[in-house]
Amino acid sequence: MAGPNIDRRRAEFPTLASGIHLLSHSLGPVPRTARESLLAYYQAWEQHTSEDAWAASWWELSRQVGDRIARILGGAPGSVQIQPNASIALASVASCFDFASTKRNKVVTSALDFPSMEYIWEAQRALGAKVEIVGSPDGITVPLENILAAIDDATSLVAMSHTSFRIALVRSSYLMFINRPDPLSWMRLSGALIS
Ligand SMILES: Cc1ncc(COP(=O)(O)O)c(C=O)c1O
Repeated sequence: MAGPNIDRRRAEFPTLASGIHLLSHSLGPVPRTARESLLAYYQAWEQHTSEDAWAASWWELSRQVGDRIARILGGAPGSVQIQPNASIALASVASCFDFASTKRNKVVTSALDFPSMEYIWEAQRALGAKVEIVGSPDGITVPLENILAAIDDATSLVAMSHTSFRIALVRSSYLMFINRPDPLSWMRLSGALIS
């Protein structure tokens, strides 16, 4: 009996015929369909005035892509918003908090978050945030008990990357969070304000 055809999408990534990609988040193998999408984008730009191109498709594109990602994540339509990059997305979230006017001004993050994420949080200190970076004793993991110890009733936000940028590990501590039957209530009980 034939096994699952795990290579069925390989032909859609032409550069895989000539090399192996070890880095896929920054400049991964280009999908064949990217050419068609870029051409369609260019044609919309070329054939309409810029105002028409926005009205015809571009305004809606972000929502449509967000909804497709939501389907993959198991989220509701309209619940995923696309941002230009992770730093801007994180800065947008940070801008929702007024750290200076509350005692609940603590942000808990981890030493294994991507370095540019830390810059965003460091900059919030000048705006009144108290930033606690939970360390990584072995450089590979962040112990769950240390994360829990850092969360208290002064915590307004827990911000942690799903995956370690160092070794691509999906953090077991993170998985322990999401495997709880109702992780949000549990984190609220632990003191975090989650909205
Ligand atoms: C896990 C992770 N988080 C954040 C970033 C930063 O992303 P950006 O440069 O889009 O802000 C990267 C960049 O490679 C990353 O790998």
